Amino acid sequence: MSEKLSKKIKSDLYYDYLVKDIMNNPNFNKIKDIPHHNTTDRYTHSLNVSYFAYKIARLIGGDLRVVARSGLLHDFFYEIPKECDKAKDRMKLTTKDHPIIAVINSKEEFGINEIEENAIKSHMYPLNSYVPKHKESWIINFADKLITIKEVTYTFNYSFNILTLFLLNWFIR
Ligand SMILES: [Fe+2]
Ligand SMILES: [Fe+2]
Repeated sequence: MSEKLSKKIKSDLYYDYLVKDIMNNPNFNKIKDIPHHNTTDRYTHSLNVSYFAYKIARLIGGDLRVVARSGLLHDFFYEIPKECDKAKDRMKLTTKDHPIIAVINSKEEFGINEIEENAIKSHMYPLNSYVPKHKESWIINFADKLITIKEVTYTFNYSFNILTLFLLNWFIR
């Protein structure tokens, strides 16, 4: 995690209060060791999505607890796409399966409500068919896409842009 983000989060006492139990959970902390998007780890990615979504919800409205927690839990799974033997399985894990696994893990570890479940399950829409049903779900979906673009474009020296990613999403639907 970057020092800048870490400082920002530590100084935001309300955010810290909302997610403290998740961040201190040993099983959740295991995702610190899992690479994500080739440039970061799954824990840092999740924290970035969560805090960005929380900031959006503060700006445009939405349940702060729901966005902070579902943002943090949206990629709570241990499987690594690169380790799938078949390309088909890799694609399935990347688009359809991991949100469902994250819902199962989140229910087991923390218990989640219906809105949090939908936000986690639908964060890959339209790459899968789980549609965001709540404002909070759309915020997580949007925050995850923007943070992902930032992480992915970093790898390619900013040669990818939003339009490229949008077209890519459209083609592999
Ligand atoms: Fe994801
Ligand atoms: Fe994500």
